[in-house]
Amino acid sequence: MTTNDTLHEILSRSSQLHLLEAAAHLPAASRAQFLDEIRSIDWDRVGRLFTALSTGTGAGGESPVELARRIQPPAELVRLPEASDAAALADWRQARSAGEELLKSRRVAAIVVAGGQGTRLGFDHPKGMFPVGPLSHKTLFQLFCEQIRARSQRAGYDIPYAVMTSDATHDETVAYFKQHQNFGLAPDQVRFFKQGNMPAVETASGQALMSEPGRLALSPDGHGGLLAALESSGLLAEWGEQGIETLYYHQVDNATSILCDPAFLGWHVLRESEVSTKVVAKRSAEEKMGVAVSIDGRTQIIEYSDLPAEIAAQVDEAGKLRIWAGSTAIHAFQREFLERVVRDADSLPFHLGHKAVPHWHPEQGATTPAKPNAYKFERFIFDVLPLAQRALIVEADRVVEFNPVKNREGFDSPETARGALQALHRSWLRAAGAEVADDVPVEISPLAALEAGDLQGRGLAGKVIREPLYLGESE
Ligand code: UTP
Repeated sequence: MTTNDTLHEILSRSSQLHLLEAAAHLPAASRAQFLDEIRSIDWDRVGRLFTALSTGTGAGGESPVELARRIQPPAELVRLPEASDAAALADWRQARSAGEELLKSRRVAAIVVAGGQGTRLGFDHPKGMFPVGPLSHKTLFQLFCEQIRARSQRAGYDIPYAVMTSDATHDETVAYFKQHQNFGLAPDQVRFFKQGNMPAVETASGQALMSEPGRLALSPDGHGGLLAALESSGLLAEWGEQGIETLYYHQVDNATSILCDPAFLGWHVLRESEVSTKVVAKRSAEEKMGVAVSIDGRTQIIEYSDLPAEIAAQVDEAGKLRIWAGSTAIHAFQREFLERVVRDADSLPFHLGHKAVPHWHPEQGATTPAKPNAYKFERFIFDVLPLAQRALIVEADRVVEFNPVKNREGFDSPETARGALQALHRSWLRAAGAEVADDVPVEISPLAALEAGDLQGRGLAGKVIREPLYLGESE
């Protein structure tokens, strides 16, 4: 804990003395609270980041765009098997068995990052509480918990499920899980841990904004905040004691994410990877999606905004995109690798977002700007990839595994996610021999089936489904 004097020095050298000035005008109780909030921030870091990132002198050398000129498609890569390629199919079967073994040996935990503010969706609650079940109206959180339950039954142990929240989502998320008894997961199977905050700073001056008198304008420090939060919550150490070796990471918004997918885990283990990422084929050169690439022999993911348009548009002899591997943000991490990375507080870089941030000023009062007025600082979890000794990219089928809820309408919206769940479940029913038309609504609970094969031998062969069908736990 710093003394007031030290705080004065720190704020002075990072040009944030206006905060002490504002604190001086507050009643004693809220002043103390505000000073605590100010002390919780590493202002030297904020000052360094503002100077480096806003003047483009960060990263000690090349800009992301310069780097991107040397990008190659990822080298450490497992492609989806062709139906006619017997050897590849056998390799995938072997990977799946290896993943199942890993799960049965109780060495896997799952993590969902659910600290984002979900501004594009514009939903008034944490995004995990958004209803996406086409018939059941189950929320994203419920669907994921049911997957973990079903996967735990097969693995023979309660797979730990850790939920990363932020100030923006924590209380409501915890209350929601409590209200629903963790959707059937054991009380100590689900753990919540909160990520850190970063202040928004005014674009021209770098001065921290206030959201109201006595409150900084703070926002979550990005999904890369996971590392520090896992460490400070004690979860990394606890998992180490429990013998958990591999962490399965997914985001809260992908409605068809397969949790603890045995085949993916198997590839991760068989290739002795420290971090593995699932990718899907980009829809077009212009699609705004991070891509997995190799730069100077290192596998990494770069943001779409760092991929020059002419490189994004390059095609191979077959006319396919050369830089095709869009990131799904599904990762597998070795726990020991994350422990190594987290030892260096600066190992993950911060990225700068230019955003319109509502704020309060002692003279101007409350303002909601129409145009970007501030920088926000965020860390991205995929920046751990180039730090790994071995990183692996595994291809997944987009239709099956990547249907995020990002926007209120249009692409990547609740409507497309519900449509994708129905199309997937229809295909499972058909694979089990049922007849079902494209306009008949269907939904299958994760507790009834996790994949097409689970419906075999369930009396569906030859059945004609004409009415809306929901397959629940007991069916
Ligand atoms: P996005 O980058 O899509 O952000 O998050 P978002 O907050 O959900 O949505 P917008 O951009 O405001 O519309 C991808 C995943 O990372 C998590 C989100 O909860 C989501 O699962 N995330 C994002 C965090 O957990 N913390 C963060 O600080 C940012």
